[in-house]
Amino acid sequence: MKYNVLMTDTIFPDTAIEESSFDQGNMEFQLSPGSDVETLAEHGQAADALLVVYAPVSADLIERLPNCKVIVRAGIGYNNVDLDAATRRGIKVANVPDYCQDEVADHTLALLLALGRKVCLLDESIRAGSWNANLGRDAPRFRGKTLGLLGCGAIGLEVAHRAAAFGMHVVGFDPYAASGLLEEHNIERAVDFDGFLASIDFLSLHLPLTADTRYIIDHTALGKMKSSALIVNTSRGGLIQEDDLYAALNSGEIAGAALDVLECEPPDGIPKLADLENTLITPHTAFLSENSVDELRKKASMEVIRTLKEGRPKHQVN
Ligand code: NAI
Repeated sequence: MKYNVLMTDTIFPDTAIEESSFDQGNMEFQLSPGSDVETLAEHGQAADALLVVYAPVSADLIERLPNCKVIVRAGIGYNNVDLDAATRRGIKVANVPDYCQDEVADHTLALLLALGRKVCLLDESIRAGSWNANLGRDAPRFRGKTLGLLGCGAIGLEVAHRAAAFGMHVVGFDPYAASGLLEEHNIERAVDFDGFLASIDFLSLHLPLTADTRYIIDHTALGKMKSSALIVNTSRGGLIQEDDLYAALNSGEIAGAALDVLECEPPDGIPKLADLENTLITPHTAFLSENSVDELRKKASMEVIRTLKEGRPKHQVN
């Protein structure tokens, strides 16, 4: 009997990598024609595994997959999968934690530098026919400034190394980071969240979106920060209360924000935050490079095959 794998959705141009991996693994592979619950439940009846990109995998869907043994999220964040529901049904959930740390860290610095140096604003003014260097007058000097990392896991640590090369002092708030880890990477450990927010010049988020971390940056947190502060979010949109951020940016309570992720993706039309001059937004692209996507797709497929054949994923998250 051959195992069946259902891919719930994709953003990739084709399914050649998945098809060839599952063919070599002697498994049947199918890309679902739709990513809504009804379509996935219908096409998932025989599925032994789900391979998921962005489709929400809710408790309702999980209850309707009688054969499913493993759900692999092709990516690092797995907030679109209902972990509790999967665990209740004895379904293993795994992610691919190790394919794009460099890309996301590079993108984080690219956003911070572009926002601070006003690269997009200056470029736009040139295209609009103006040659006005003064637009860049109040850019911060990065050397000597403090970058605050909220979350010091794989990506946060890579960001710290890059920031140090620009002369920034790095402070990290991560209550779960192993003792000595931050110090090993020349990151000063912050233990008081409010004090951390008040002390930093730039904030960069590198923590997962969970019920506990949703809106960790809201009106109250923004109110603790310096009005000159810049915020970069390459993690998940739901970590920041977007209406609160809009209000803080609009009133000058916060100087600027660069976001690779939004609460609602794709947004319904042009996101409201794009009305403001002090924002910079990219369409959840931090993980992408000419190398990272093939690596991700191969690793995600291998994780499905490994779990179905050997019974255990390499990177189980539940
Ligand atoms: P990781 O699991 O290595 O690190 C996450 C860190 O967050 C851990 O050290 C953990 O202790 C910490 N953390 C958890 N709860 C916290 C809290 N309440 N306060 C402070 N720290 C907390 O994950 P990694 O690889 O560094 O990725 C971070 C996030 O980046 C992922 O969760 C994912 O959502 C996002 N991501 C975004 C991508 C993009 O294309 N924009 C691509 C890849 C990941």
